[in-house]
Amino acid sequence: MHATICDLITDLVQNSFEADATEITLSVKETEKNLNVVIADNGKGMSAETLEKAKDPFYSDGRKHKHRKVGLGLPFLFQTAEMTGGTAAIESEEGIGTTVSFDLDPANVDLPMFGNFTTAAVTLMTYGFNGNLKIEHSVNGRGYEISRKELREALGDLNELESLTLLKEFIKGNEEDILDF
Ligand SMILES: Nc1ncnc2c1ncn2[C@@H]1O[C@H](COP(=O)(O)OP(=O)(O)OP(=O)(O)O)[C@@H](O)[C@H]1O
Ligand SMILES: [Mg+2]
Repeated sequence: MHATICDLITDLVQNSFEADATEITLSVKETEKNLNVVIADNGKGMSAETLEKAKDPFYSDGRKHKHRKVGLGLPFLFQTAEMTGGTAAIESEEGIGTTVSFDLDPANVDLPMFGNFTTAAVTLMTYGFNGNLKIEHSVNGRGYEISRKELREALGDLNELESLTLLKEFIKGNEEDILDF
């Protein structure tokens, strides 16, 4: 199961990779009162029927987990939003793409811990995927933006040990800049 919000975000962006998207944006905006996350992709999208089913904890399209027809990413999101008085929405159009967005109350005691965003961002940036992924993260209005395309141009193959180390340091530095210690 999901230990943290960052695990949930990682799962949702993985859905975009799996939908053959070539452009994905992940925006995470944190304030004391609200956590706003938007994941938008230009992947294969979902029919109205699949979209309904995707919110159901007992549905997965059956291609990925041959012996488990249960998806956990979206149902977990909707369950968490409902349990904590937050909101979550998916918009999707076949052949056009999908946008998943949610707003959660960071002060709610039932909300899972936020987790480690640096680890999530590194995982997503090094995923075997050839399109572009843009990540924006801000805390109380102070933020940064990185894109896989630009990171690749600056660091080369992101899975090479040397560039992976630089990538981690770079994202960690950005994270430290926006967090108040
Ligand atoms: N961004 C997306 N674009 C297109 N289809 C999507 C997207 N996100 C989810 N889906 C569809 O919704 C289904 C359910 O997604 P969910 O993440 O809950 O489970 P899963 O990806 O099948 O399995 P799991 O995430 O547990 O490994 C997917 O199987 C897929 O058909
Ligand atoms: Mg999934």
